[in-house]
Amino acid sequence: MARGKQPAKARKTVLTHTIADFEPAFWPDEQPVDNAVVMTMGALHEGHAALIRAARKQVGADGRVAVTVFVNPLQFGEGEDLDRYPRTLAADVRLAEENGADVVFAPLPEEVYPNGAPQVRITAGPMGERFEGASRPGHFDGVLTVVAKLLHITDPDFAFFGEKDAQQLAVIQRMVADLDFDVEVIGVPTLREEDGLALSSRNRYLSAEERAQALALSKALFAGRDVAAQGPKAVREAASAVLDTTEGVTLDYLALIDPEDFTEAADDFQGEAVLAVAAKVGSTRLIDNVRIIVR
Ligand code: PAF
Repeated sequence: MARGKQPAKARKTVLTHTIADFEPAFWPDEQPVDNAVVMTMGALHEGHAALIRAARKQVGADGRVAVTVFVNPLQFGEGEDLDRYPRTLAADVRLAEENGADVVFAPLPEEVYPNGAPQVRITAGPMGERFEGASRPGHFDGVLTVVAKLLHITDPDFAFFGEKDAQQLAVIQRMVADLDFDVEVIGVPTLREEDGLALSSRNRYLSAEERAQALALSKALFAGRDVAAQGPKAVREAASAVLDTTEGVTLDYLALIDPEDFTEAADDFQGEAVLAVAAKVGSTRLIDNVRIIVR
């Protein structure tokens, strides 16, 4: 049994590809029950399994859980990994079923964007222009546009997202608040391998040597977390020291972030912060973060 797995009622997960098929599969009877969605781009791993289990726990045995599997072209920039992003639908459906999903919705781009790339989009605003947004211009607009569409299609009470994509979670929460979406967004803590590597669909791009080098990201974050009581400067220095002495890792950013508005935390910042890192290991871009209390 997978880590932390809740015993789930045996259920057969229905795979749907169109909105017309999804709706009756997700809403099979008149009885109102709680329902939840877990949005993914597929290549599901234990981190996604934890999201699906959290969704099942939230809605109970009689509630409904949908998992969306859609590699959203809108959120990939030029030269990014849209074409080689792993597509593993059969395995994804099995994982979704084992962890308590009722329905998998895996549409083609033509189903989600029937008129081609949408002219009207959601913009993430300044929160989406820093850190990940600075390195991947337009990324969060693409994310929010598809998340908004998938929220309309699935119409859930709860939507679950991983804390590993901390800025994504923050901009989604902000969109839901600013635009009055009727859904509760719930963040689920990052799952890690025993040696600290955060679970990610992109880890499968790493060679054995790169995987070993990639451990520098979590090591740096843990080093910063260990000195959180000494303040922002100590946190940044401790984390940088690990990255500065590691071969094979090209740093994009290391930042101590105020989670309220996703700005860099000032040197006198106190309270809950996100220590985040993004780096390339070989040709693979990885991100990771930890939540810490800075004094
Ligand atoms: O985190 C992801 O997998 C994607 O960004 C999401 C939220 C499914 C939108 O495409």
